[in-house]
Amino acid sequence: MYITYRKPTPADGQAVYQLIQRCPPLDQNSLYCNLLQCRDFSDTSIIAQTEDGTIAGFISGYIPQSRPDTLFIWQVALSSEFRGQGIANTMLTELFRRDARLTHMETTISPSNQASRKLFTRFFKEHFTSVETKTLFKQGIHFNNDHEDEVLYLAGPAIRLDQQSA
Ligand SMILES: CC(C)(COP(=O)(O)OP(=O)(O)OC[C@H]1O[C@@H](n2cnc3c(N)ncnc32)[C@H](O)[C@@H]1OP(=O)(O)O)[C@@H](O)C(=O)NCCC(=O)NCCS
Repeated sequence: MYITYRKPTPADGQAVYQLIQRCPPLDQNSLYCNLLQCRDFSDTSIIAQTEDGTIAGFISGYIPQSRPDTLFIWQVALSSEFRGQGIANTMLTELFRRDARLTHMETTISPSNQASRKLFTRFFKEHFTSVETKTLFKQGIHFNNDHEDEVLYLAGPAIRLDQQSA
């Protein structure tokens, strides 16, 4: 199957909202939030689309104001029928290589999310020289015991992605 990778636009907002609904354990943000991601975070977000226009995957990200060399990955969502083919890995690669000023990547992962842990562990090992982890948001302190801890992964500096094949 031929997949294309592109920046999202607001026309994708509803499909992204529905995709995330189908991708537990992701937090369902508001449609308005997804529309803003597709409009104002488009440069740091990516859509994976099939030939017939189906949205197979979406990654939202942003560059934190205090760390302009860092891409923070917010959510990764891949429709279940497209999983296990390395599409999420390609999306991360395509996204990071868009901006040559980026040297670091951050994300948070809940300890029970094995697929996410495997995806990022492999990606970081392949593309970055080191990875540090620390608990960023704690179940009892930040989440009112309503949500697992979120562990921050800080990867960098990057091994230059433009010298590697996608
Ligand atoms: C996480 C996710 C994006 C991975 O997408 P993907 O394209 O299938 O990723 P990959 O094909 O690179 O597979 C990643 C690894 O996870 C493994 N995996 C997939 N589903 C799994 C599961 N339910 N439990 C354990 N491992 C799983 C794959 O076998 C693969 O392992 P490998 O590298 O040893 O072969 C996708 O599973 C998803 O959308 N999940 C729901 C939303 C989510 O949890 N997002 C991440 C948090 S932001």
